[in-house]
Amino acid sequence: MRTLALLALILASAWATEKRYDGYKVVQVKAKDVPSFQTLAKLYDEQSSIYDFWTEPRSLEEPIDIMVPPAYTETFERLLQTHNLEHRIKIADVQSAIEISRKDQASPTVVQEPRSRSGSLRYKLNWTEYHDYTTIVLFLAELAQNYPDIVTLITIGKTHENREMYMVKISNSQTSNATKNAILVDGGIHAREWIAPAFNTWLIHELVENYAAHPQYLDNLDWYILPVMNPDGYVYSFADDRLWRKNRNPVNGPCVGIDLNRNFGFHWNEGGSAGNGCDDTYHGPAAFSEDESANARDAILLVAERTKVYLSYHSYSQVWLTPWGYTVDLPEDYPLLFDLAQNAVNNLTAVYGTQYSVGSTTGLLYVASGGSIDWIKGDAGIPYAYTVELRDTGDYGFLLPADQIIPNNLEMWEAVKVVADYTMTIAN
Ligand SMILES: *[C@@H]1O[C@H](CO)[C@@H](O)[C@H](O)[C@H]1NC(C)=O
Ligand SMILES: *[C@@H]1O[C@H](CO)[C@@H](O)[C@H](O)[C@H]1NC(C)=O
Ligand SMILES: *[C@@H]1O[C@H](CO)[C@@H](O)[C@H](O)[C@H]1NC(C)=O
Ligand SMILES: [Zn+2]
Repeated sequence: MRTLALLALILASAWATEKRYDGYKVVQVKAKDVPSFQTLAKLYDEQSSIYDFWTEPRSLEEPIDIMVPPAYTETFERLLQTHNLEHRIKIADVQSAIEISRKDQASPTVVQEPRSRSGSLRYKLNWTEYHDYTTIVLFLAELAQNYPDIVTLITIGKTHENREMYMVKISNSQTSNATKNAILVDGGIHAREWIAPAFNTWLIHELVENYAAHPQYLDNLDWYILPVMNPDGYVYSFADDRLWRKNRNPVNGPCVGIDLNRNFGFHWNEGGSAGNGCDDTYHGPAAFSEDESANARDAILLVAERTKVYLSYHSYSQVWLTPWGYTVDLPEDYPLLFDLAQNAVNNLTAVYGTQYSVGSTTGLLYVASGGSIDWIKGDAGIPYAYTVELRDTGDYGFLLPADQIIPNNLEMWEAVKVVADYTMTIAN
């Protein structure tokens, strides 16, 4: 008995250990022609359980970052040679990169006030580090408590692992009326993209706590923000596997998880998503099969009518994308969507010189169906639907050091202001 108990203890502690990435490399690959691009697209569609595509194939111009496990280094090198693909190593050892990105970084540029308006002790959340789901939820709850006229915390349903999902409504009740336009924001649908929730909490804080600096954004608009769209995955990426992407539904035998951003029900499963449950882009057994995507759908439909803009935050690549994902065709109003995105990016770039490119989700070659942006525009009828991939362009990728959170947020806030100004002018 004693041996068994000991064995159980050892196994339990082994299970509790975080997944390590010793010897994993991130290789940046550039296709030179359509056939070599198709080779990479095929690899992405069929072998994303082995080769983790940190960036998705979209077009010939854009290099693709692929994480290669040590056991496949030689196979991968052969493939690069056979297809004459240009490449360079971006991250030589992913495990070291994970450790570096977790360490406390250089001094913060913004010092927090110790107390909130109501005088109660202030939340623990800040933007000099990444924070776990519990800390984020406590932050939201405290804002709702301190600003009852402005912030409403709405529960929209439970995740597969029974966590509460939240949507924050930010609306000035003194000026609210039935004709205000609204902006919908989400982030973290992919668990490992930590900078996305870190921007969303910043946006909430800026709108609410700095209201006096820009009252028009609450007096003339309402905001609906889902700061963490995939809580189970986010929690898992904190404790178990830093590079986890999908949700945590074990629907497919030994392989866990559905890519929620392939699970939305507009032209679902029409290409660029995987049918194999072990792949990182597995689209799930049916459209909206997942609690998280179904909860988001239901919550969004309730507020869709006055909502004119949708911003879905991801990382990384520094791109601002429009529909469609399911087809290489562009929506009829693409010029309008493009202009707003470009104006927003111009103001973003003015802050630190950070470059973002603007374009459609499919780029020129590669289709990815089942994304939230397509359903938002195609079914929910929200005209200005965007996916925004935040910093960086691959030096750190998902492992963006915490000392870039505030600069990332400050520049993106300038873009959001441009979007907000425009949204006020959109006719019903
Ligand atoms: C940010 O939060 C972390 C965790 O609560 C804390 O250790 C750190 O000191 C905080 N940073 C600042 C500048 O307050
Ligand atoms: C409602 O809000 C809109 C947008 O701010 C504003 O233009 C309009 O005048 C408001 N209507 C009323 C009746 O207050
Ligand atoms: C965008 O940048 C322009 C040029 O600097 C500036 O005039 C404008 O106020 C900015 N827009 C917003 C919403 O801050
Ligand atoms: Zn993503």
